Amino acid sequence: MERPKGTKDIFGKQAAIANSIVEVFSEVAMLYGFNQISTPIFEHLPVFSRAIGEQTEVVSKEMYRFQDKSGRDLVLRPEGTAGVVRAVVENKLYVTLPQRFWYFGPMFRYENPQKGRMRQFHQFGVEAFSAEKSAALDSEVIILAADALTLLGIKYQLQINSLGSLTTRAKYAEALTKYFTNHASNLSPVSQQRITTNPLRILDDKVDRETAAVKGAPVISKYYSSEDEVYFKSICHLLDQVDIKYTINPALVRGLDYYSDITFEFVSVSEAAGAQSTLLGGGRYNDLVSMLGGPALTGIGFAAGIERLVNELEENYDDDEVILRPDLFLLNLNESAPLVPLSLVTSLRRHGFSIDWNYQPLKIQKAFERAERSKAKIYLIYGANEQANKTVGVKIGNLQEQVKISALVKYLDKKLEELESEKE
Ligand code: HAM
Repeated sequence: MERPKGTKDIFGKQAAIANSIVEVFSEVAMLYGFNQISTPIFEHLPVFSRAIGEQTEVVSKEMYRFQDKSGRDLVLRPEGTAGVVRAVVENKLYVTLPQRFWYFGPMFRYENPQKGRMRQFHQFGVEAFSAEKSAALDSEVIILAADALTLLGIKYQLQINSLGSLTTRAKYAEALTKYFTNHASNLSPVSQQRITTNPLRILDDKVDRETAAVKGAPVISKYYSSEDEVYFKSICHLLDQVDIKYTINPALVRGLDYYSDITFEFVSVSEAAGAQSTLLGGGRYNDLVSMLGGPALTGIGFAAGIERLVNELEENYDDDEVILRPDLFLLNLNESAPLVPLSLVTSLRRHGFSIDWNYQPLKIQKAFERAERSKAKIYLIYGANEQANKTVGVKIGNLQEQVKISALVKYLDKKLEELESEKE
């Protein structure tokens, strides 16, 4: 039996790195006032088709869509934003504003798998809702992403763009359709199909964007209203103030239809990323909440691809660094009373020590081999003599002494502290 194409079993070093990524992102998000939200992995079809847009690749080609036994049309979530917006509307989570949420979990897209592009992948995301759009809130969301990536030691290039208001975007799409209709013969068949359905996407097509036809296409800034322009400039100004470096990329249109105003992507600068180099992407959505039946709230957010971030960090870690190293290993040597140490092990765990042991008693030589493999910091030796004397042999490096069980917790606390300070 094999796992389905485009999925991955995550264990060992990769699991440890993924956990620390989520830990860092969630801690930074909480510093910025974001609370956790979890939404279902499947939703009713319209949540995604309406939010993301029927013409997008995600909705038209990549959704895992199925009917349940009662004939409900359901979708495995391809992204997190639409579900969070649905939850905000359904639970009326807008009585006080702004509202800020973070989430983490698996997402599903039927894509052609390659490095960094999976059919099941994980995102950490944030979404912030406010009554009016706010350049300060937008900047905070971008700074949050930059802070988390920096804490993780990931180098990136930040690209930003503005799609202006929905009216601006519609005018621009019209201009692009006109332009690309005249240059259709220079475009790939996929882009030709997008000329009328989704002309903005032609701009970031990996192949076509290198062609003269796309390079010569009208740029969106020409279609900004003065309000669009002022708003975009104020975000740039705020990012300058906190020394966040960015490049303005007028072709950054993103693959989901709900965006207006600011869009951004944090792109990898390492070779490890390969072709799928966008680590984190997001932007503002001013009309999505009302499109899903809610009040006129505006939103801004991003999602980071956990597998892509793991790829970035994997080379920096030795297996030893990320695999759990217990404080203690108990060598269980008493063959006539094999399970007696269980209560000692349990009591030590309840005192907060991490501990591994050989629950099948072993001869001393074999037990030491197991202890060494565990890489525990301190070895405890427990045989018939220790049981009779209510003691434990404690071995740290080459030193060994017998310690009364009644004094063991205090003794181990002290020794582990000493070991820790020696390391520093
Ligand atoms: P997205 O750009 O579609 O945006 O995805 C965000 C990130 O998820 C990407 O930058 C990438 O790291 C990761 N990702 C996407 N697809 C895959 C895949 N097939 N395999 C591995 N990683 C992948 C969104 O999903 C928006 N909901 C972000 C957002 C939140 N915008 C506003 N709020």
